Amino acid sequence: MEANTSDGTDDLVETLSTAEKKVLLALDERGGRASPDELMEATDLEQVKVMNASSWLQSKGLAAMEEDLESSYQVTGEGQRFLQEGLPEVQVLELVMDGTHRFSELRKQRDDLDIAIGWLMRKGWCTIDKKEGDRVLTPTEKGEKAVEGEQPEVMVLRRIAKGEAPGDPDMAETLVQRNALSENEEITRTVILSDTGKDVVKQGLEISEEIAQLTPEHIQSGSWRERSFRRYDVTSFAPVVHPGKRHPLSRLIERVRRIFVEMGFQEITGGYVEPCFWDMDVLFIPQDHPARDMQDTFYCSNPDTLPIDDELLEIVKMVHETGGDTGSTGWQYDFDSEQARRVVLRTHTTVNTIRYLAEHPEPPAKVFSIGRVFRRETIDSTHLPEFYQIEGIVHEEQANFRQLIGLLTEFYKKLGFDDIRLRPAYYPYTEPSMDVEVRWHGRWMELGGSGIFRPEVTEPLGVTEPVLAWGLGLERIAMELYGLHDIRQLYLSDIEWLRNAPML
Ligand code: PHE
Repeated sequence: MEANTSDGTDDLVETLSTAEKKVLLALDERGGRASPDELMEATDLEQVKVMNASSWLQSKGLAAMEEDLESSYQVTGEGQRFLQEGLPEVQVLELVMDGTHRFSELRKQRDDLDIAIGWLMRKGWCTIDKKEGDRVLTPTEKGEKAVEGEQPEVMVLRRIAKGEAPGDPDMAETLVQRNALSENEEITRTVILSDTGKDVVKQGLEISEEIAQLTPEHIQSGSWRERSFRRYDVTSFAPVVHPGKRHPLSRLIERVRRIFVEMGFQEITGGYVEPCFWDMDVLFIPQDHPARDMQDTFYCSNPDTLPIDDELLEIVKMVHETGGDTGSTGWQYDFDSEQARRVVLRTHTTVNTIRYLAEHPEPPAKVFSIGRVFRRETIDSTHLPEFYQIEGIVHEEQANFRQLIGLLTEFYKKLGFDDIRLRPAYYPYTEPSMDVEVRWHGRWMELGGSGIFRPEVTEPLGVTEPVLAWGLGLERIAMELYGLHDIRQLYLSDIEWLRNAPML
């Protein structure tokens, strides 16, 4: 190993820009201290360049910046009057001592009587008495003495008028309050060379015109060949910026959308308001199913019903009651067509895919939707009454369960979840059915349901080939990817969190 000859400042020197080197040298020539103005003159650099270089030197520990806040005063018009005529309280006291005691008479001679009296009382130079319905002023001993000498106010004003320091800072403040002085605060900056800075200069700095930013001109003219390049310092400090960006949830939606499109799917959408028929009956959900309860579902009052195609309604009614032509025995109860017309906020986006199937009974089809659904949930850290579902179907000849598993595995893999697990589950509209779980940070979390639509669902729509279907939660995925413990965080508009949420 080679010995380190230059006490570790070599690397530091490498990071110095030409401007920083110039400033260092200029500081050294001036004994280690200089104002920005002096540095501008010495380096022939503009002010911004000098200030920039100085703050970089500061962050590298080669210089320090001292800031001094200095007040400077100027005598105002009022101050000039004080200088020429004396203070109002002195003038009034002189009138009093010459025999004019009464307020009414004094007021005839002085517009500023109230101000003068204020100061006379404050200084204890006078007392006020009542006499024959008027008020009169009587000088105190202190007052009589005080008017003889020179007033400290005037002394301070005179010094400032001559460009000297006020000498009495408290009095200067009082005069500012009396509008006799105006105050300017000025920051004076001094750049100071640090010990490390001195060492660096001692080692010798070579100023060569380095290229910090390569331009087309450098390349066209070939001048880059003769010049040296400034080294990048990827570890150097840079301010944090928070550019505008889309909401984390919108970004995730965008990503999910892209994944399905990549996998050859087309996006479909639907409305929030749907009759029970499409949200539930077509899906062979029995009318006494607990999910239909007022407790779980938002029923709409305006409109409270929507018309349903009579023919299709009749077929679905038969399927529920007896199984119709589906080979099933149905649910064996009296189907209520009125109930089917009732209007709800959609409880799942399966309503989107089933409507699509009804309109496109011919295979093949690969469609997906990402949309909000509504359930009467009590809000807590894992439940919201409105949330997003990622829904989809594959409708094609020979579609099968393996394909469904492969598809979901692929989808989650693309999102970054490598391990997924499928568990047998039950949904009234699929057979077989399975729930999807993914492994994240050592535990399994349930993300949604899937399966193959039952004949009771597909037959009435004229669909004869198998349909793979799934409905997955979006917020759960977001919670995991953004590391949240509370689902509500996604909807809080918490600016700190929004700024710092990672770009996935
Ligand atoms: N609709 C189901 C839910 O909301 C999910 C699902 C969709 C299950 C499609 C099977 C098939 O949880």
